Amino acid sequence: MSAVATSRPGPLLRTAIGRLRRAGLATARQDAERLLAESLGTTRLGLYLEPDRVVPPDALDEFRRLLDRRARHEPLQYLVGWEEFRGLRLRVGPGVFIPRPETELLVERALALLPDRPARAVDLGTGSGAVALALAVARPAVSVWAVERSAEARAWARANIGGLGMGERVRLLAGDLWGSLAGHGLEGTVDLVVSNPPYIPAEQLAELPEEVRAHEPLEALDGGPGGLAFHRRILDGAPAFLRPGGFLLLEIGEGQAAPLGELAEAGRAFEAPVFHRDLPGIERVLEARRR
Ligand SMILES: C[S@@+](CC[C@H](N)C(=O)[O-])C[C@H]1O[C@@H](n2cnc3c(N)ncnc32)[C@H](O)[C@@H]1O
Repeated sequence: MSAVATSRPGPLLRTAIGRLRRAGLATARQDAERLLAESLGTTRLGLYLEPDRVVPPDALDEFRRLLDRRARHEPLQYLVGWEEFRGLRLRVGPGVFIPRPETELLVERALALLPDRPARAVDLGTGSGAVALALAVARPAVSVWAVERSAEARAWARANIGGLGMGERVRLLAGDLWGSLAGHGLEGTVDLVVSNPPYIPAEQLAELPEEVRAHEPLEALDGGPGGLAFHRRILDGAPAFLRPGGFLLLEIGEGQAAPLGELAEAGRAFEAPVFHRDLPGIERVLEARRR
């Protein structure tokens, strides 16, 4: 960062925004504000409420360090160490998928299907624990089993489960999708299986923005050739765990609804699936009811 004449928020932000814009970041203003707020231990609003505060040297050093990393397109959430998901502040960092706003639709549908009475839900590929925790917090009577294969991601999920005091109701299981659920007496009893699995077609991974491709874990993104490898395995395995009348909810990518609709119906374990659109109008969530 070039030398700044003063260490007050206004001039610091102007310089920082220019730098991030030149680095090609469309979110330069929000990013600079969030990084400065984080360095000062305040919020973006707090910066504007105290425009004349002097930024102390240690906070200034921290801000410059974060700004350097952001200019190299490291995800903002990894730099500040958290992301908000349905009002929950979740810890994130290298090694774990950053929860996305579109996944809130998956949670909304899950909550619509899960009344607050004792019930069992399974979250496959829990990452930071975002979906499992959003369900557990909103539905205090529901027990959640959260499965994750990556040890690094599990460490973040564990921190979030502990941080929100949900250790009693969100059980974190290590393993590969269904394999880790065996032996827990869940077969035929689960009310809801929910998953935001990796679903980027392998052949499109190279087209992802560098910020995602170079920093977020590949195993959170790569859905195999065509992108449906995980959806297929989840559709195959879900009938054994769901109770009759239980639901499967899957987040899906653009253009995946038609092939997945056919797959879901082909097995005859599910009624005809329903698809829910996200705000831009893309079919984003598959909902299928176990016969
Ligand atoms: C797209 S991310 C979703 C994370 C989180 N549910 C969310 O919505 O923010 C997919 C997750 O599935 C995990 N995963 C990939 N393959 C898996 C497997 N075979 N078994 C269990 N989890 C897996 C990844 O490590 C990653 O955390």
